[in-house]
Amino acid sequence: MPDGTGGGAPVLRGGWPVLGLLPALRRDPLAVFARARPLGPVVRLPVPGRHPLFAVTDPAATRHVLQENARNYRRTPFHDRLKAVLGEGLLTSDGGLWQQQRRLLQPAFRAERIRRFVAAMADSAAAMAARWEAAAGEVLDVSQEMSALTLDIAVRCMFGQEPRGGDAAIAEAVQEAQDWIAARFWSLAPDWTERLPTPRNRRFRRARAALDGLVDRIIQARLAAGETGDDLLGMLLAAQASDGAALDARQVRDEAMTMLLAGHETSAGTLAWCWHLLAKHPEVAAAMRAEIAGVLGDRRLPAPEDLQRLDLVRAVVEETLRLFPAAAWFGRLAAGPDRVAGCDIPAGSILALSPWLLQRDPRYWPDPLRFDPARFAPGMRPLPYSQFPFGGGPRTCIGNHFALTEMLVALAVLLPRVALRHASAAPVVPELLITLKPAGGLPMRVERAGAEGRHATPNAVSP
Ligand code: HEM
Repeated sequence: MPDGTGGGAPVLRGGWPVLGLLPALRRDPLAVFARARPLGPVVRLPVPGRHPLFAVTDPAATRHVLQENARNYRRTPFHDRLKAVLGEGLLTSDGGLWQQQRRLLQPAFRAERIRRFVAAMADSAAAMAARWEAAAGEVLDVSQEMSALTLDIAVRCMFGQEPRGGDAAIAEAVQEAQDWIAARFWSLAPDWTERLPTPRNRRFRRARAALDGLVDRIIQARLAAGETGDDLLGMLLAAQASDGAALDARQVRDEAMTMLLAGHETSAGTLAWCWHLLAKHPEVAAAMRAEIAGVLGDRRLPAPEDLQRLDLVRAVVEETLRLFPAAAWFGRLAAGPDRVAGCDIPAGSILALSPWLLQRDPRYWPDPLRFDPARFAPGMRPLPYSQFPFGGGPRTCIGNHFALTEMLVALAVLLPRVALRHASAAPVVPELLITLKPAGGLPMRVERAGAEGRHATPNAVSP
């Protein structure tokens, strides 16, 4: 029986008196998890407050928490920070409300529905390719560009609307909201301090108003059109209109905001990392172009059935998600006591699960920092939970097929037409706000494909 003391789990020392490891976690949680790894599969990280914190550092223990004993686990106080922007959407809700939302939304993410989005995704990418060709020789912030692309795709596919521009303002608002949430993430300050008129709080409120404005505009435009439609927004509105209304207007707003934010920043970050890795490995980019040409022939836009044949492009996306998982770690709160990998976990503990940590673990990934898409060649099967960029168990990412499809489409359209090289030799360093992105953006010079040099662009950081 669990004895309620957390007995058995080794403790990671080296923190401050009183604050323990909190300052280190604030600075770089992934480095703290990496220090914990040699101590065991579950390691206690001393922090102040009423929730004991544990790092989970091996696949079997991760599987236990996310899948086998998922019933015992809930959203954490960290998720409450996200609620300031997302409200009670699918990502942040729990229990019965979460179950009802998941059942309602799941059909919008079925494979056959996602197939129907391929044409719209390809159109968005083709518009970007044309813009990039016209900008040949110029330096672009590829992080921003990818955010604009995936926002465009999200608005078209999930909300059935032509984007109306203003992406830069929205991207800025998303960045501001992420900064604010990240700053409060490990904060011990009570909630009321969020309402103080500090410059940062004021900037955050302006950003949230901009995002609310975007979501309201989208919902109002659909209501004005007088038909619900069968995309995600249509399903939400139909659920609202149905008898015994499953959703009220606030919930429609919260779900829409959740899908818009969860559904574009993650894919944008991953695509940005893809471009970074391909600039360092031009031989892989060349092989991908050859594969795309072989499958598409002289067509410029992929059809849904083409995507299954783009094995290398898919492997590159998976290898990118291994090295740079957008959700580098996430947490669970233990509702009741549990025993994980032989360690007692008291009720009320927070467990940190980390794709970043496990996906760079040399025990499961030889030479883990090496970029090697062959790890995901057809037929390769990683050990379960040694790779889980989309989470696992009942709360697996609902948008995983959507994300993989849009990333494949984006690369299949853009790669044959353009090449990107790092614009500076400065190291590209990951920054973890809510998602993992290149710190300070990703300046790259755009060239027409075929006109680029054949050498990897110098860039200090591995891989
Ligand atoms: C590369 C892209 C993406 C990555 C790496 C990613 C990663 C994840 C992860 C790790 C989780 C599980 C979090 C947890 O268990 O606490 C998750 C959940 C979620 N994701 Fe994604 N995601 C991506 C794209 C998307 C897209 C495109 C959408 C929407 C269209 C989306 C919507 C969601 C939602 C709503 C949840 C919460 C699901 C639930 O709790 O039932 N994600 N995502």
